[in-house]
Amino acid sequence: MELSNLRLEVMKFVGQKIDTFVDEFLRPIETNWQPSDFLPDSTNDNFLSEVRNLQENAKELPYDYIAVLIGDTITEEALPTYESWLIDVIGVDQVDEPNGWAKWVRAWTAEENRHGDLLNKFLYLSGRVNMRQMETSTQYLIADGFDIGTGRDPYRNFVYTSFQELATNISHRNTAKLSKEYGNVPLAKICGVIAADEMRHARAYKTFVSHIFEVDPNGMMLAFEDMMKKKIVMPAHFLRESGVKIGQTFSHFSDAAQRLGVYTTYDYIEIMESLLKDWKIDSIQNLNDAGEKARDYMMALPARLKRVAERTKIPDLEYQFSWIS
Ligand SMILES: [Fe+2]
Ligand SMILES: [Fe+2]
Repeated sequence: MELSNLRLEVMKFVGQKIDTFVDEFLRPIETNWQPSDFLPDSTNDNFLSEVRNLQENAKELPYDYIAVLIGDTITEEALPTYESWLIDVIGVDQVDEPNGWAKWVRAWTAEENRHGDLLNKFLYLSGRVNMRQMETSTQYLIADGFDIGTGRDPYRNFVYTSFQELATNISHRNTAKLSKEYGNVPLAKICGVIAADEMRHARAYKTFVSHIFEVDPNGMMLAFEDMMKKKIVMPAHFLRESGVKIGQTFSHFSDAAQRLGVYTTYDYIEIMESLLKDWKIDSIQNLNDAGEKARDYMMALPARLKRVAERTKIPDLEYQFSWIS
């Protein structure tokens, strides 16, 4: 069978469970949290004093921290890129099968959309951000798209999304932890509820991969290996500011995240290790030679990455982001 036909068959088979996936991994809209649950209510008489309070608390947040929060927000706000990418994956069809995988993609997007919305409004109210510069970066990032090396392959895409949801869970969890340390409880709550969403989403994408491993272990193993060989790039790797070359702002953002410990090379390795464990890579049956080789490569990868990580130094130079005045 041609590769893309096999992918299509597998997606159809796993996709029979879409309703179960939506019920299990996403929350009913009626009872789900909304951004306004965590922000001052502008219809309320106390609105201005609540904003003043929020701004007073935001003064304590360090420069790198604000920079990372802005980068996280822009990453979330580039959601149109992610939705349009997933809708184009083999086996996702919003016209002929709108209630199959397309339903998952829409419902997932609908939950994700709250993240950028909430963070953006918080930053706007905080008084710490040059919103025009931040918005310009967002527009650039959506216009620039991304290059994640998955093609239209569902297997590679689900490896990518499993990895990415775990990465965003870690980074939002860490910004929550830090804001608590800075005495900013409302912001800790904001980052915390977003992190919890990301964890549910991670569980969903990991489950999709587990199902694929059951029916096409070789194909899934080779796709996983291919993604790890290419390295998982961040969805905002093209991030730039006005007047800055494409991707250049991303490396400053990533350095700030490393310095703060919000998302580091060690987190990358930990995610890799957790995926090996969750997908029980060491005990997958029915592999051919190529599959066995791919497994060996990946089982040895975390140790190799750790040796590399020990040698890499994080620049301690603080960069002046145009986002922060
Ligand atoms: Fe998100
Ligand atoms: Fe996410």
